[in-house]
Amino acid sequence: MTERTCLVVVLAAGEGTRMRSRLPKVLHRIAGESLLAHVLRAVTSAGPTRVAVIVGPGHAEVEGEARRIAPMVESFVQSERRGTAHAVLCARKAFSGGDDVLVVFGDTPLVRAVTLTRLHAALTGAAVAVLGFRPQDPAGYGRLIVQGGELVAIREDKDADERERAVTLCNGGLMALRGDVALHILDAIEDKNAKNEFYLTDAVAIARRMGLRAVALEAEEDEVRGINTRAQLAEAEAVLQQRLRAEALDKGVTMTAPETVFLCADTVLGRDIVIEPFVVFGPGVVVEDEAVIHSFSHLEGAYVGPGASVGPYARLRPGTRLGAGAKIGNFVETKAAVIGSGAKANHLTYLGDATVGEGANVGAGTITCNYDGVSKHTTEIGKGAFIGSNSALVAPVKIGEGAYVGSGSVITRDVPADALAVERSAQVVKEGWAARFRALKGVLKKTNSPS
Ligand code: UD1
Ligand code: CA
Repeated sequence: MTERTCLVVVLAAGEGTRMRSRLPKVLHRIAGESLLAHVLRAVTSAGPTRVAVIVGPGHAEVEGEARRIAPMVESFVQSERRGTAHAVLCARKAFSGGDDVLVVFGDTPLVRAVTLTRLHAALTGAAVAVLGFRPQDPAGYGRLIVQGGELVAIREDKDADERERAVTLCNGGLMALRGDVALHILDAIEDKNAKNEFYLTDAVAIARRMGLRAVALEAEEDEVRGINTRAQLAEAEAVLQQRLRAEALDKGVTMTAPETVFLCADTVLGRDIVIEPFVVFGPGVVVEDEAVIHSFSHLEGAYVGPGASVGPYARLRPGTRLGAGAKIGNFVETKAAVIGSGAKANHLTYLGDATVGEGANVGAGTITCNYDGVSKHTTEIGKGAFIGSNSALVAPVKIGEGAYVGSGSVITRDVPADALAVERSAQVVKEGWAARFRALKGVLKKTNSPS
C-alpha cells in the first residue's frame, strides 16, 4: 500500500442466500475466476500487505481458494453472523503492532488496486476513511453524510430521514482505519439497532466522538458493485468483460466485434493478434504475437504460438501447445496435444494426448484413439509426417518422421520413419458391373442421372 503497514481484512462469511446455490457466494466466478480471487488479486497487487480472510462456518473451500491466490493469508471463521464489525473483529489475533486496517468485501470483485491504495493513503489525514460512490439508484445503501469536507456519519437507508435520503453519495462498504486507534474504535461498536448487529459503519460516529477525523473518498459505481444475486453476477461479468476487452485493444489486439469476445482475467495476449467475432477464452490461455483466432473458437488452458492460426470452430482444451505458425482448422479438437511449428490439422480432427512434429500434415477426419475405456495413451506423429484423411491412430502408437499413412487406415502398430502404412482392404473393381445392373433392372442411365 503506501509506506504505512497494513492488514487487509476480507469479509467473506456471507452465505449468499440470494444466489440460491450450494456454493458459498464468493466462490462464484466472473471472467473465469472466483469473486474472492478478484478481490485478493487487487489486494495483493496494491502492495505488500498482510491479509486476513473471514469465512463462514463449514466454508473450508473458501479458505482453500484464498490460500491458492495469497498463500500467506490468515483465515478466521465467523461462526455466528453478527454484523460487519463483528466479522472484522474475528481477525483480532491478526491485529498487531498498530498496523492500519483496511476492510474489503469478498463479494465486491471489481475494486481496483489503485483505489485500495488511495483509500489507505487517506489515513495520512484521518483516522477513518470510507469509500463512497454515486449509484444510479441509491435506495438500500448507507448514505455518507459529509459536512465541511469531513465525514460525520454513515446513515443506513432504513434509518435515514428525508433530507439524508436525498444524499446521493453512498457507502461502498470499504473502510480504512488507522492502526493506533482501529481496535479502540471497533471495540466501541455496539449492537443496539433493529437487527442487533455490530455495524462497521458505526465506526465513523464513534471516531468523531473520540475527537478523530473521518473522510469520504469517491469511486466509480462499478468498483463497489456488491454481488448478491445471479443477475448482479451477470452484470459484473459484463463490466469486467468490457474492461478486459478495452485492455486487449489497448495492447494491440484487433477485434472486429469485441462485444462478442469473452476473455478470462488471466488471458495473456501478445501484439498484432486478430480475434474474430464470437471467440471464448477459458482460464489459462496465452496467445503470442500475430496469431489469428477465427470465429466460434473455444480455448482453455492452451498456448498459441506466434503466428499460429486457430479455427473457425476450433476447440483447444487444456494442455494444448501450438508451435509457431501451426494451423488448427475448423471442427478440430485438441487436448494435451503439442503441435510443432508449421504443423497443420485443418479439418475435422481429434488430437488428444498427442505430439505432432514440425511441419506434419494431419488430414481431414484423423482421430487419435487415445482412450481404451480404462486408460489414456499417447500418439506421437513425427516431423513432416503425412496422415491421410480419415485415419484412426490407435494409441499407444508412433508415426515416424516423414512417414505416410494412407487414407482410411486404422493404425495399431508403430510406423517407421519415411515408410508408408496402409491398412484397408484391397479395392475391388468390377468392369461394367453398374451398366449390367441397370440393364437387369430395366432402368435407363438417363433417368437415373440428376436433371
Ligand atoms: C453494507 C453497509 C452499507 C453499504 C453496503 C454497500 C453495513 C452495516 N452496511 O450493507 O452501508 O452501503 O454494504 O454494499 O456495513 N459480512 C460478514 N459477516 C457478517 C455480516 C456481513 O462476513 O456478519 C460480509 C458479507 O458477506 C458481505 C459484507 O460483509 O460481503 C457486507 O455485508 P452485507 O450484509 O451485504 O451488508 P449490506 O447490508 O449490503
Ligand atoms: Ca451487500
